[in-house]
Amino acid sequence: MSMPGKNSFSPPMLSFASLNAAPHEFYRELRPEFPFVQREDGAFLVLRANDVQALVSDPRTRQVETELARARGISGGPVMELISNSLLFSNGDTHRRRRQPLSRCFAFRMMDGLRPNVRSLAEELVTLKLCDGEMKLRDDYAAAIPAITIAGILGIPRCDVPLFTQLAYRVSKILTTSWTRDDLPDIEAAINELSSYISSIIDDRRKRPRPDFLSDYVANIDETAEMSALEAVMQIVSVVLGGTDTTRAAIVVMIGLLVDRQGSSWSSLRNQPQMVAAAVSESLRFEPSVASIPRLAIQDIHLDGYVIPRGSPVLLSTMSALRDPDVYVEPDNFNLMRPMGKWHPVFGGGEHRCLGEALARIEMEEALAALLNSRLDLDLGDQQLRVHGHAGIRQVDELLIRWR
Ligand code: HEM
Repeated sequence: MSMPGKNSFSPPMLSFASLNAAPHEFYRELRPEFPFVQREDGAFLVLRANDVQALVSDPRTRQVETELARARGISGGPVMELISNSLLFSNGDTHRRRRQPLSRCFAFRMMDGLRPNVRSLAEELVTLKLCDGEMKLRDDYAAAIPAITIAGILGIPRCDVPLFTQLAYRVSKILTTSWTRDDLPDIEAAINELSSYISSIIDDRRKRPRPDFLSDYVANIDETAEMSALEAVMQIVSVVLGGTDTTRAAIVVMIGLLVDRQGSSWSSLRNQPQMVAAAVSESLRFEPSVASIPRLAIQDIHLDGYVIPRGSPVLLSTMSALRDPDVYVEPDNFNLMRPMGKWHPVFGGGEHRCLGEALARIEMEEALAALLNSRLDLDLGDQQLRVHGHAGIRQVDELLIRWR
């Protein structure tokens, strides 16, 4: 890698391809020298933990709205419709108006009530696979837990889960770094299909309310009349996007990392089940499933002698920050004893802090606990955990787990 000297006052400009090839290596090499690098689409990737933590809710930044999509040549159509109506890509009163009807349902206390259901689901999936002697970790287990749980919250019939989940994966590609213009027609078709599916279940709850989250949501938005019909649909689409791919990847990463370290981590967890929450936190730090948080610089931002100019899209690299040795001792070591504090940076900060944190943690904890409690010895053979992407939602390859 060729890097300009610090006196050039411009950080390196990097292509998507080079960043995606070996992101940890890039970040490790660049972070001591540069507080940020610039990507070929113009976005600035902020690399250091203290800067990432400060800028996530700094008044010199705001949430990106349509800027990143426009930078990649999108000016209309379903992608723009989703982005311009989602809580994730909005600010101020518009954001509060869109988030408020969802917040109560996803609060920690409410989510804890779902824990027994998530536990039974994880145990049922393990039992189902016991006779086979092996399991596709991603498709048979890690994908099913968040998909069936979100479908349950929304009251989606179990038979629709495969269709609805496939649509969610196709749409969430837009939040990864691996899509190209060739993927756009498929992403657009999936947004149209997913939003009309959600729209139909919203209409159904309006006509036939039940004691469930979606009926309460519809009643609340109808009563306050603060959201358009399209906005009401797009908040639920945003929850589906936030809640499927992210947690699927996080579960594969966590179990992949722990099984790979059988000798130490797996057996210590079996003997100390109270360490499950720590295993969740450390795996989210070591190999986060969401690698960056987007913002827009609304003023010039000076960092260590360099300037991010006003108006630039900024990606706060949680992936780099979570391996910053200035904050994490021996950051490239996976360490279950590492103190991570109450507010894990992987879920962001400020007004946009992840709405689904409580749910994600419950799903990850129960996914791990069900495998530990099965007392099975798991084996990955010579397969490697492969996680792709340097920003946004990351993707994982399938891992076939065998019981020994
Ligand atoms: C390990 C799993 C997850 C990770 C690492 C993660 C990470 C994040 C991050 C970093 C943000 C903040 C983005 C920003 O500030 O721009 C966010 C927002 C969000 N997440 Fe998650 N998330 C996860 C799981 C979930 C789940 C399970 C749900 C759904 C129930 C969810 C729904 C959302 C929503 C709706 C937002 C937008 C919040 C807002 O803009 O106000 N996430 N997530």
